[in-house]
Amino acid sequence: MSVPISPAGSLNLLNNYLRELSDSGVTDILLTEAALGKLRILTAKPGQQVTGSANKAQELAEIRERATHSQSCLSLGTLRDTMVFSVGNPDSRIVFIGEAPGSEEEKQGEPFVGPAGKLLTKIIETMGMNREDVYISNILKFRPRIGNTDQGAKNRKPSAEEVAASIQCVRDEIDVVRPELIIALGGCAMQGLLELDEGVNRARGKLYDLGAHKAMVTFHPSYLLRSGANSEKRKLWEDMLMAMSYLRMPISDKQENYFKDR
Ligand code: URA
Repeated sequence: MSVPISPAGSLNLLNNYLRELSDSGVTDILLTEAALGKLRILTAKPGQQVTGSANKAQELAEIRERATHSQSCLSLGTLRDTMVFSVGNPDSRIVFIGEAPGSEEEKQGEPFVGPAGKLLTKIIETMGMNREDVYISNILKFRPRIGNTDQGAKNRKPSAEEVAASIQCVRDEIDVVRPELIIALGGCAMQGLLELDEGVNRARGKLYDLGAHKAMVTFHPSYLLRSGANSEKRKLWEDMLMAMSYLRMPISDKQENYFKDR
C-alpha cells in the first residue's frame, strides 16, 4: 500500500533515518546513481540551479531534437529515417557508447535492446548496477542503410563519413552528462571518440583522456556474441573490473573471480 507524503515530509524522515545511522557509527551508505540524482533535486534550495537530472534532461532533450533533424546525417542519404536516441540516467558516472542502432533498436526506439543489448544489460547487472543507472548511447543515431528495400535484420558497419556526420551529437551528450568514465564498445566507438588507429584488443586495458573525461575501450557485445569464446568474455570482464576499480565501486569476491574457472 502506498501512503501519500510531501517531498519535504519524506526528506525529514530520510534525514532522521540518516542521522540515526550516522549516530550508530555508519560512515558510508550505497546509493544507486538514479537515487542520488533524485536526492540532488529533492534537496536543492529554493532558487538554486539543479545541476543534476532536471537541467541535464532538458539539455539532452534539446540534443535529441537536433539529432532528429540533423542535416549532416540526413543529407548523406545513406542512413535510415528512424532516429534512435540514447537512454539512461543523465547523472550516471558511466557512459557506454556503441556503434549504431540495429533493427530491434529501430523498432523499439531505444539503443541496445536486441541480442547485443541483452548482453550489455547482463554485463551492467553483473557489475552490480541496473541498466537504468547508467547512460547508454551510440555514435550513430540512425541505422546505416543497405540498399533501398527492407533490409531485415541485416546491418553494416558505418562509414567514416557517417561517423564524422554523427559524432558531434555524442560529444554534446558527454558534455551534458559529464561522466567520470566513458566506455567505448568496439572499434567504431573507439575510432570515432578517441581517433585511435589500432585494434580494440591492443587499445583495451588503458585509460585515455577525452577532453575533461576519462575513457576506456573494450569489445563490442556483438563481437562477443559472434566469437562465443570465453577468452574474449574474460577480457571484457577484466575491463569492467578495471572500470569498477577506477570508479571505486565495491568489488565482491564473486565479481573478482567471475571468470576464474571458466
Ligand atoms: N549495437 C550497437 O552498437 N548499438 C545498439 O544500439 C545496438 C547494437
